[in-house]
Amino acid sequence: MSSTSTPVRQANFRFRCIACGDLSDAAGQDFRCAQCGDLLEITYPAWKETKPKPQELKSKWRDRKLSRRDEDLSGVWRFRDLLPSLDQDYHAVTLREGNTPLYAMVRCAANTGVRVFAKHQGMNPTGSFKDCGMTVAASFALLAGFRWVACASTGNTSASMAAYASRAGMRGLVLVPDGKISWSKLSQALDYGAVTCQLRTDFDGCLKLLQELVKRAPVYQLNSINPFRLEGQKTLALELLEQLEWQVPDHIIVPGGNLGNSSAIGKALLEMREIGLISHLPKLSVIQAEGANALVRTLREGGGKTLISVPAETRATAIRIGNPASWKKAAHVLDATGGACEQVSELEIAHAKAEIGAEGIGCEPASAVTLAGLKKLVKQGFVKPNELVVLVLTGHLLKDPDFTIDFHRGEMFPESASLEPLRHPPIVLDATLDAVIGTLKKFE
Ligand code: F0G
Repeated sequence: MSSTSTPVRQANFRFRCIACGDLSDAAGQDFRCAQCGDLLEITYPAWKETKPKPQELKSKWRDRKLSRRDEDLSGVWRFRDLLPSLDQDYHAVTLREGNTPLYAMVRCAANTGVRVFAKHQGMNPTGSFKDCGMTVAASFALLAGFRWVACASTGNTSASMAAYASRAGMRGLVLVPDGKISWSKLSQALDYGAVTCQLRTDFDGCLKLLQELVKRAPVYQLNSINPFRLEGQKTLALELLEQLEWQVPDHIIVPGGNLGNSSAIGKALLEMREIGLISHLPKLSVIQAEGANALVRTLREGGGKTLISVPAETRATAIRIGNPASWKKAAHVLDATGGACEQVSELEIAHAKAEIGAEGIGCEPASAVTLAGLKKLVKQGFVKPNELVVLVLTGHLLKDPDFTIDFHRGEMFPESASLEPLRHPPIVLDATLDAVIGTLKKFE
């Protein structure tokens, strides 16, 4: 077993440093450039010669939907022509991730004056977009011969990693901030069999510790610093464009935490344009919570040159991150696509989450920043009337029931009149027909 590097045999890809451009065939466990220490990304030099053919790819991806093979039924590996390839003898570790629905958001559209769709990544096997990256990174962890995989997490990564580790027969080590992740996410990590450590620190503290750990122990990190994760998460954009029959939306709006997902979607869009799958780019915008707005401040106050870290605080615990690892990658794709970076308040998040719920869709608080951000971007004129906008909903409604219950019971922002019409508190009644009929009449 190699405990120090991820070997690449006859690979269709190489690692490239995002800062100095150094190319290498293997990456250390910290997934940082051996020359300058910055993050690595995966690149496909052979595409220049093989020139993937857009029409062939599109029909191949369509045909695979009719197959019964695991790799074809996965909404990630179906697009494997644009992913790092596994050795022939290895199978992907898959739970049939991806294949997530694209919903028309009729009421959100009426309220904002733009055409709104939601790409619901919360419909993945463990309830978040993490599964799309995890299937690829876990497969490469297995291929590299690791027994242990590990992650720091605000909850969703740990749930996803725990599931994929167990499916692959690997052990999972989870580091989460004590008391700062939702019970439902924690319960997933426990049930899927990970060794789960609640550390007395925040997410950024957990991630820092993990960086030290991978230098000392043969564990493979499955955070989004791992570039295989981002390759899997690219497929969100491929699947989305396929669902839109390759009609490019005007905007894609995504929540920003550690900034891996926005980086992945942006990378996919740039690669799709390079190959000719799309002729132009949608604007990719990132929305953060006001209390965890490192990228917003970095771009506004620091000109995007050096990261401005913040002490993070928000009830959208999934994005309670103050020192985002992939900020440079995200800044690059925002710049390349002409997207915006905005922040939204706790009140705006709660409001938007209830509106998404009221459409019968539902999502976790971190995902709702997308709608809250869209409203701001419409007001600012950045998103124009009738434009086609896709919100990326990253996590399932059931990921954070405490937030939802507090909201509907009126325990969250009790003084806010604007939220009242959106609250649907449970009603305790005597078990009589009269009481129920009386209630029906009241709500007529
Ligand atoms: N939405 C949800 C539901 C998340 O769980 C996360 C991140 C994000 C958005 C932000 O994505 O980090 O790629 O910018 N959750 C991580 C975790 C950090 O540990 O589960 P990002």
